[in-house]
Amino acid sequence: MKILFLDQSGKLGGAELCLIDIAKPYCDRSLVGLFADGDFKTLLQQNQISVEVLATQPIKVQKQSNFFQALASFTKLIPLLIKVTKIARKYDLIYANTQKALVVGALASILARRPLVYHLHDILSLEHFSPINLRVAVTLANTFASLVIANSQASQTAFVQAGGKAELTEIVYNGFDSKKYQIPDIEIQKIQQELELNGKFVIGHFSRLAPWKGQHILIAALAECPPQVTVILVGDALFGEQDYVRELHQQVKTLGLENRVKFLGFRANIPQLMSACNLVTHTSTAPEPFGRVIIEAMLCGTPVIAAKAGGAMELVEHGVNGFLTTPGDSEELAKVINTCLQEIEITATIANNARNMASQRFDISTINQQIAQLLIFPQK
Ligand code: UDP
Ligand code: GLC
Repeated sequence: MKILFLDQSGKLGGAELCLIDIAKPYCDRSLVGLFADGDFKTLLQQNQISVEVLATQPIKVQKQSNFFQALASFTKLIPLLIKVTKIARKYDLIYANTQKALVVGALASILARRPLVYHLHDILSLEHFSPINLRVAVTLANTFASLVIANSQASQTAFVQAGGKAELTEIVYNGFDSKKYQIPDIEIQKIQQELELNGKFVIGHFSRLAPWKGQHILIAALAECPPQVTVILVGDALFGEQDYVRELHQQVKTLGLENRVKFLGFRANIPQLMSACNLVTHTSTAPEPFGRVIIEAMLCGTPVIAAKAGGAMELVEHGVNGFLTTPGDSEELAKVINTCLQEIEITATIANNARNMASQRFDISTINQQIAQLLIFPQK
């Protein structure tokens, strides 16, 4: 099957990393069309996936756009729409991986008469989107998509609550190649040396720097932990959250934690870094649609504490394969971190359970088979 994948971003967010795994089995006969240039294009090329940047000017609609802003952005989409429609005629199916890709993909699917699949990576709720953006996404999906692949039960439920048709939806979790997360001790020691982490209890946070990803909650919790506890913050502000970055640095300074928090920026060697941590925390203050970092930490055998909301609750069972804490509650987070510090054996058993569970439940080849089965249907 020849697929035209569409994604609005040139940056490496979770939805984009997920798309690489989905597009790979189709790489000899498919194209990924992007609406912006960037590292995502390079990574697709490195994976031998054909990619083309289709938009010549950035599409500025924000997650919180009002009606007029949305309309203005829409008119700017017309040249892109014409281009996508022309290309789509050479493919059997359009696979929209983001919301702006859905807007363009939906209209192109009508003009080019090709079925449309929408991969929903977001929780379509007012916590994450403006009312107009929500309505546009749900209406387009209901009207034009033959299939909506939700990345979790939480994303599926929010879609239906926002007016989406339940019968269009299928839940497919992100898949992972567990081998990539088995890191030899020698590599782990090298990283620990490079980052001067030896002798410390290292907590890793692996997310883009954005208020709702809640890095500030971890920093606040760190102030309640013994001095050997150190935090590495891995990730960059991908979407212009520079004020938040400044606030984080200020918070670290105010709490006197300069020697215990390292900002590492965006890194490509996540499995190595996660394996060098004693604990990984996920601290999103709004419900996380899925949370790739949670599964990645599990696959590294590193115990994980996640915020109890959204898709994270489908991934973590408290005390069985990880820990859950109330979103936004830094005191509770500090308590659980301190428990992990003290109860090393129980925590190690939990991390081991998590690794076994995650390597089976989120196995990339099983997930890719699931998607292949689903994609046969919209062809009919
Ligand atoms: N990630 C990365 N480098 C970084 C920080 C994060 O490659 O410096 C990856 C991380 O391993 C994960 C993805 O970015 O695979 C983030 O996905 P997630 O689903 O956790 O959150 P999103 O940012 O998509 O909301
Ligand atoms: C989105 C979501 C994240 C999810 C990823 C992959 O970026 O924010 O929770 O893990 O997509 O589906």
